[in-house]
Amino acid sequence: MPRKRIALVGGGQIGGILALLLTQKELGDLLIIDTPEQAERMQGKALDIMGYRPNGGHDVELRGSGDFADLEGADVVVITAGMARRPGMSREDLLDVNLAIVRHVGEQVRRHAPDAFCIVTTNPLDAIVYAFHQASGLPHHRVVGMAGALDSARFRTYLAMETGYSVEDVACLVMGGHGPTMIPLIRTATIGGVPITDLLSPERIEAVAERTRNAGTEIVSLLGNGSAFVSSAAAIAEMVEAHVRDKRRVIASAAYCQGEYGVDGYFMGVPCVIGAAGVEQVIEFPLTPDEQQLFDNSFGAVQASVRKVRENP
Ligand code: 2OP
Repeated sequence: MPRKRIALVGGGQIGGILALLLTQKELGDLLIIDTPEQAERMQGKALDIMGYRPNGGHDVELRGSGDFADLEGADVVVITAGMARRPGMSREDLLDVNLAIVRHVGEQVRRHAPDAFCIVTTNPLDAIVYAFHQASGLPHHRVVGMAGALDSARFRTYLAMETGYSVEDVACLVMGGHGPTMIPLIRTATIGGVPITDLLSPERIEAVAERTRNAGTEIVSLLGNGSAFVSSAAAIAEMVEAHVRDKRRVIASAAYCQGEYGVDGYFMGVPCVIGAAGVEQVIEFPLTPDEQQLFDNSFGAVQASVRKVRENP
């Protein structure tokens, strides 16, 4: 069977690490694509990882490009293109500049790779994935935003740090928009199957949840120039793998909702099944009234962001 063709649109910090992680997973041949001015840099990045492959015995090929026509035939397209936050900026501050970029990418995908499964990561995530969906014209099950995988990984990280137990044994779910209103769902958090509420005090759990909500901002302010990229790339790689290997993994993602949790016609952070067909199912389960209220509040923030997309044709 021919290898899958995976295109990374945006060869910045996330794109570079993602290319390395996907090479290690041997999920398919990779194209790193950026603006025409960056074409040679992209070729350099690709060649660098080509030279790394003998060490791990990874039989995939990488190419760099500055030409969207090279998207032709891509099975998967990951969009990381756009500006990252600097200290003091909110994700919403990026909307105008990133909207123009992602709309352009969406049109190019419509033209050159209309059969691809697309994962969007550009901020402000929930509004940008909405805009990409509109610009690309792709069916909604083949467009998804990466955020919940990262936010849930952070919640797991901070729960492991707080308890001193292995991160591997922590399970949890973060729902809602990718911003300060996201909801680390406490009752879904377990360590080795034991509810976190039996292991930590309510005050410590709330501190961990707050650190999770603020994690991206904390890293932006520590880095001083750019946002988290290793953890973001790892979360994307998890989603690409779920699709390419048809794993039907349940991963929190910004998926198109059609009535689930009271959301209709928007992309929102919910648990969903990712497999060969793309987003194969949005998993809906009953929220408590308090949880639903937090979710509604987060949806309000996403709606406000999407409104700006609609007002900016
Ligand atoms: C983050 O949370 C970049 O939004 C991304 O780190």
